[in-house]
Amino acid sequence: MSRAEAFHLRCLQKNCKEEIEWVAQRMRRTLMEVVGEQEGVEMYSMDWLRQRVHFHLEEERCTGQVILAEDAAGFPAGHLILRLEKSPKGEFFGLISTIYVEPKFRRQGLAGRFYDRAEAWFRQQGMEQAVTDTADDNTPLLRILQDRGFRIVETADSMVRLAKSLNPATA
Ligand SMILES: CC(C)(COP(=O)(O)OP(=O)(O)OC[C@H]1O[C@@H](n2cnc3c(N)ncnc32)[C@H](O)[C@@H]1OP(=O)(O)O)[C@@H](O)C(=O)NCCC(=O)NCCS
Repeated sequence: MSRAEAFHLRCLQKNCKEEIEWVAQRMRRTLMEVVGEQEGVEMYSMDWLRQRVHFHLEEERCTGQVILAEDAAGFPAGHLILRLEKSPKGEFFGLISTIYVEPKFRRQGLAGRFYDRAEAWFRQQGMEQAVTDTADDNTPLLRILQDRGFRIVETADSMVRLAKSLNPATA
């Protein structure tokens, strides 16, 4: 078994306050790492982040998923947030909203597992494109994404949007 396979991936429990809190805290840490400590804290309140986790869990508001990874001992190691979005032309696509791996679990292939999971779910939902946004200097993430076939399709300020076709005919 590879190190990445040792992680167990599952959907977040909808009514579990602790799990929602864990993810909301890591959403903040993601922002702190990606845009800088102060800006990352000031961007959204903790309450807004908790509501954002809830939003992805409420079927009537969002077709989305919040995935938690646990290590072999059952400790949370990272999370992934996905949803379907509509383009200005009215076409749906799969959006990888956030991905975070706890520092002590990095470089073990967990982000790769998350992307496999995201792409599989988007395909199940009939999506032909996977999209994600990040800072233009997030080298670790850009490397993973480009290795997986994502290409930069938009740049604005210091952010980039990357996309990957999930349709084998156009990939
Ligand atoms: C980016 C992040 C998700 C990567 O998670 P991870 O589980 O460590 O990634 P993986 O182990 O799957 O790495 C796969 C490949 O990505 C590249 N990579 C990952 N981390 C890297 C780093 N720090 N520097 C350079 N390349 C890196 C490597 O090519 C790596 O393969 P290798 O380890 O065989 O060399 C993690 O560092 C993280 O949570 N960062 C903070 C939050 C963030 O930036 N989220 C994304 C924005 S929403």
